[in-house]
Amino acid sequence: MLKIGNLLLKNYLIMAPMAGITNPPFRLIAKRLGAGLVVTEMVSAVGLSRGHEKTFRYLESTPEEKPLSVQIFGADPYDMAMAAEIAVEKGADLVDINMGCPARKVVKNGAGASSKSGGRSGYGRGRPQGLHRSPDRENPVGLVPSGGQFSRNRRHH
Ligand SMILES: Cc1cc2nc3c(=O)[nH]c(=O)nc-3n(C[C@H](O)[C@H](O)[C@H](O)COP(=O)(O)O)c2cc1C
Repeated sequence: MLKIGNLLLKNYLIMAPMAGITNPPFRLIAKRLGAGLVVTEMVSAVGLSRGHEKTFRYLESTPEEKPLSVQIFGADPYDMAMAAEIAVEKGADLVDINMGCPARKVVKNGAGASSKSGGRSGYGRGRPQGLHRSPDRENPVGLVPSGGQFSRNRRHH
C-alpha cells in the first residue's frame, strides 16, 4: 500500500505519464496489468483554463482507471489553479504538476523543466500560490521536478 496525502494506492506501481501514449486504452491495459495508479499524459493548463475542447479530451477517462492522476503543465499560477480544479471536477484523484519536460515548445513558455527554476511565474520556487484556491483540498498535488531529462524523473508528493 502507498499513501499519497489521503489517497491510498494498492501498491507502489505507478505508471509513468507519457505524452501521446498514456491515453485511456493504454491506462486501462496498465491498470489490468496491476498498476496501482495510472496517469494521463501532460495536459495544458492554459488549454483547460481557456476551455479548449481539444484539451478537455485529454481528461476523458473511465471509472475502471481509478484512482487516476492527471498531469498538468503550465507557467501561470492562475491557469494552473484553474486546471487543477477542472481536473478534479473531471475525476482526477491526484493532480501531478509537470516540472520536468525539457521539450523546447514547453520550456520556452516557462512550463515543464523551466517552471522548476522559477519559469515566468515563479511558482517553481514554492507551492504554486494559485493552488491554494482549489476548493477540493482532499486531492493531493504531486510534482515531477526532473532536471531536463525525462529519464531522471522523481516524483515528490
Ligand atoms: C514518449 C514519452 C513521453 C513522455 N511524456 C511525459 C509526460 O507527458 N510527462 C512526464 O512527466 N514525463 C513524460 N515522460 C517521461 C516518463 O514519464 C518517464 O519518466 C521516463 O520515460 C523515464 O522512465 P523510466 O526511467 O522508467 O524509463 C515521457 C517519456 C516518453 C518516452
